[in-house]
Amino acid sequence: MNFTSDNITGASEKVLAAIIASNRGKATPYGKDEATLRAHAALDAFFGRKVTAFLLTTGTAANALACAAICPPWGTLLTHQESHVMEDECGAPEFFMAGAKITGLPGIGGKISPHTLRAYLEGDAQGANRPPVRGLSLSNGTEFGQVYTPGEVADLCALAHAHGVKVHMDGARFSNALVSLGCSPAALTWQAGVDVLSLGGTKNGCLMAEAVIFFDDALAQDFIFRRKRGGQTLSKARLIGAQFEAFLDQDHWRDLASHANAMAKRLADGLTSIPGLRLGWPCVMNEVFLILPAEGIDKLRAHGALFYEWSGHSLAPDHALQPGEAIIRLVTSFETRAEEVEALLTAARGMNAR
Ligand SMILES: Cc1ncc(COP(=O)(O)O)c(C=O)c1O
Repeated sequence: MNFTSDNITGASEKVLAAIIASNRGKATPYGKDEATLRAHAALDAFFGRKVTAFLLTTGTAANALACAAICPPWGTLLTHQESHVMEDECGAPEFFMAGAKITGLPGIGGKISPHTLRAYLEGDAQGANRPPVRGLSLSNGTEFGQVYTPGEVADLCALAHAHGVKVHMDGARFSNALVSLGCSPAALTWQAGVDVLSLGGTKNGCLMAEAVIFFDDALAQDFIFRRKRGGQTLSKARLIGAQFEAFLDQDHWRDLASHANAMAKRLADGLTSIPGLRLGWPCVMNEVFLILPAEGIDKLRAHGALFYEWSGHSLAPDHALQPGEAIIRLVTSFETRAEEVEALLTAARGMNAR
């Protein structure tokens, strides 16, 4: 019953087979191999247009380097105040942006509203002493398992662009967001105005494969140097290329994410049918945020359940934690089995027993 994260898994069978196959024989290094070239073609097909893609190994590197491509050292990058970029990357975005300031904006469920963004951009004093806002980084899905719709992304991008601000999307769970929304990759990114995307593979069936996707080619100009400088230009790049090829082939990503999302839905439905339990935010992808009496945490752990306690700062006011309540995050993956979900539900039902 391990619901700590979706990166506790290995690779899917299909991705692993592709890695093993790519291990055979010789291949040109540094991304000029056949598997990487095929992965690039598959990424073009995935987005329905030619994109400029760079493959790398971690989401942190993808985010940090992508943010550096849109925000200069003297600029400000706006993001949600509890985003991964803001809180969980050990200053990598600041490091690669070489001094740029990151400012966190509030928002329910990890989402920045157009109202909040407009108020910040219009109220931002100009002048040579202030780092001007040059970048906006949005997570889709968010750190609280929520999704921005294509329309919401388009509204934020339009506002950002009107103020000379480029938009990055952290898509560590992009597959799960797509499945949740039922829209195309194009609709959620370039058609809505996103300039650069961190496309995650690792949490959804790859062993370690992420991509930075540029929809604005001008921004990609120096990225080949940024990636190398970031230590993310792999000589045996074929191993990442092979992962993306398998991940995208016949919508394998969709099958994996659909399963993860369905398991979360099952978990959420079961948990909310238990008196005294409620969700912090709606379950729309592969994460369930459960509000429970704080003593329930130890009881669930005593049954062998693994999970993290989570922050309740981004709860809507009418969902705020009451005294004695806590919030936990339960994440499902492409490998989560229905029996694990049932075991957690049984443990949760037993929590109320004295
Ligand atoms: C929203 C989000 N972005 C980015 C990442 C990147 O993670 P990593 O650098 O561990 O691959 C994660 C991983 O937890 C994440 O949850």
